[in-house]
Amino acid sequence: MCGIVGYIGREEAAPILLYGLERLEYRGYDSAGIAVYDKGKLNVAKAVGKLKNLCELTDNGAKVSGCIGIGHTRWATHGQPSTDNSHPHLSGSGKIAIVHNGIVENYMKIREMLLSEGFTFKSETDTEVAVQLIEYYYKGNLLEAVSKAVDKIEGSYAFGVISSDHPDELIAVRKESPLIVAYGETGNFIASDITAVLKYTRNVAYLEDGDIAVVKKDGVKFYNSYLKEIQREKAYIDWDVEDAQREGYQHFMLKEIYEQPKVVKNTLSAHIKDGRIDLSDTLLTPEYCREIKRISIIGCGSAYHVGVVGKYLLEKYTRIPTEAVLASEFRYTDPIIDNHTLVIVISQSGETADTRAALREAKSLGARTLAIVNVVGSSIAKEADSVIYTLAGPEIAVATTKAYSAQLAVMYLITTALSSTRGLISAAEYDEVLAEMLRIPGKIETVLSDREQLQHLASMYFNNSSIFFIGRNLDYAISLEGSLKLKEISYIHSEAYAGGELKHGTISLIEPETLVVAVATCEKLFDKIISNVKEVKAREANVLCITQNKSFNAASAVTDNVFTIPNTHEMLTPSLAAIPLQLFAYYVALDRGCDIDKPRNLAKSVTVE
Ligand code: G6P
Repeated sequence: MCGIVGYIGREEAAPILLYGLERLEYRGYDSAGIAVYDKGKLNVAKAVGKLKNLCELTDNGAKVSGCIGIGHTRWATHGQPSTDNSHPHLSGSGKIAIVHNGIVENYMKIREMLLSEGFTFKSETDTEVAVQLIEYYYKGNLLEAVSKAVDKIEGSYAFGVISSDHPDELIAVRKESPLIVAYGETGNFIASDITAVLKYTRNVAYLEDGDIAVVKKDGVKFYNSYLKEIQREKAYIDWDVEDAQREGYQHFMLKEIYEQPKVVKNTLSAHIKDGRIDLSDTLLTPEYCREIKRISIIGCGSAYHVGVVGKYLLEKYTRIPTEAVLASEFRYTDPIIDNHTLVIVISQSGETADTRAALREAKSLGARTLAIVNVVGSSIAKEADSVIYTLAGPEIAVATTKAYSAQLAVMYLITTALSSTRGLISAAEYDEVLAEMLRIPGKIETVLSDREQLQHLASMYFNNSSIFFIGRNLDYAISLEGSLKLKEISYIHSEAYAGGELKHGTISLIEPETLVVAVATCEKLFDKIISNVKEVKAREANVLCITQNKSFNAASAVTDNVFTIPNTHEMLTPSLAAIPLQLFAYYVALDRGCDIDKPRNLAKSVTVE
C-alpha cells in the first residue's frame, strides 16, 4: 500500500526521498511524488506508474533542490492513478504540502464544508481535503493547524506535512497507520516503514496513535493530541541493510525463499532452551495453558493459512477446540469469545487493518490475545497482550515466503508446549518432536537444493490457464498456500480444494491436460488422496504429487511427476511441503515474465479495510 518518507537536514532532500521511495516500492503502488522546499516555495514533482518515471522527470532528484521534503508512493483508493490524484497534495495557497497513508472516512462532509467556505479542489482524493483543512485552520502556527485538522478527521492516517512558511520543520502525525521518526547524522526522517531509512540510520522512534511529531534537522519533539509535549523512546533496529537488499538474487522472493533455513532456525532457537520449549516470556504460562477452553486463530492471506495449519495441529495435539478465521470475516460474525478463549493473531507486517480490528474486537470481548508478528514495534505487536516475534527480518517481496515459514515454526512451538503442559504428549514424543523441529532447517536446505527439478516442472506447466491444488488435513492447509502463491505472482487461475470435496463440484472443471498438484505428505491419509488423484487422472488431468521420500514409489505409480521432500514427523510436514510450492510458483511466474516481487494490484501491507 502507500508509502511515506520525509527528510529535513543538511543534504539535498530529493535523492534521499527517491531512494526511500524505491525501498518502499515493494509495498505496491501506482504513482509516486515528492515535494521539496526551496527559496520560499514548495516544488512538487509527480509521475504515474513506476518510480523510474519520477526519477526520469526529476533527473534523479537533481531538478528539485532543497533540504526539506516529503515523498509518497500511492496505491489508489479514492480516484484512479493520475498525476492529479497522486501525492504530495498542496493546499490552495500552495504553501502547505501533505502526504498521506490511510483513509479519511468523513472526507465528503469536510469537503462540503470547505467548498462552502470557498475552497476548491484539484483531485478526487480524501487527502487533498486534509491539506485544505489544515490550511483552513492555519493562522501562523502549523503544529496547531495540523492538530485542529486531525481532530476533525475520522478514519486512519499517517500524515507528513511541510509548509513554505515553516522551512525548518516537518510535521508527522498518525492514527492507525504506521509512522516512524528516524534520527540520522545529517538530519532526521519520517517514514511509514523502516526500510526507507535503514541506509542512513537504525535509530528510530515509533509514533503512537494520536502522536504529533515536530521534526527539525537537529531534534524531534513529540506531542499528544492536546499539544502537551510527551516523550517517545528511541529504539535501535538491528536489521542489516543487506537483509533488505537483493544480494545477487534475481528477485527478493527467491532470496527470501533461500533465507528460510536461517529464519526458521532463528525463530525456533529463540524459544528453545536446554532442550525445552520456553514461552515463559509470553502469556502462555503453564497455569494459563491449562485454563484455555477455546482457541481462535485470526489472520489474512498466508497468515490465515498458517492459522489453518494451527487448527489441525492444536486440535490434534492439545484437544482444545480451535478455529481459524479470516480477520475480515471475524469482525462481522458476532464471534463467540470469552475470557477462556485464547485469540492468536498472525501478521507479518503487524499492520494489516482487518487483523488489527479483529484483535481489538477480541480484546473487547475479554479474550486473551497473543500476536505472532514479524515487525518489531508494529501496531499489532503493541496492542496484543503478548507477542512472539518471527525472526524473519525484513520481507520485501509482496508474496510472503520466509515470514510464512517462521510463522509455521512458532505454531509448532505453541502446539508442542501446550500439548506438553496439558499432559497430552509423552516425554519421549516431546523429545522426538523437538529434535526433529531442529532438523527442519537442514531439511529445508535439502529441498532447496532440488530447485532445478522445480524449474523443469514449471517449464512444463507455465502455459496452463488453470491449476488446481488438492490435499487433506495439513496437506489441504498447504494446498491453500501453494495455490495462493501461484495466483499471486503468475496470474494463473488457481484453486485449492480439500481432496474429498473435489467431486462435489470442482471436478467438473478438470479437462485433459489440466494440472492438479496433489499434496500428499500426510501418511495416514495417503491412500485417500491417491483415490482423489485417480479421480482426476480418469479425466486425463496431469498430476504433480508432492510427497515424502518414503512414499515415492507409491506416488510415482499413479501420478505424472513426483517431487519428494525428506521424511519428517507428521506435525512438521507443512514446513517442507511449502517450499517446492513456493519455488514452483516462482519459476512459473518467471517463465511467464511476471513482475514477481511486485505483482499487479497487490500490496505487501494492507492497511485499509
Ligand atoms: C497481503 C499480502 C500477503 C499477506 C497478507 C497478510 O495480502 O500480500 O502476502 O499474507 O497481506 O499480511 P500480514 O502482514 O498481516 O501477514
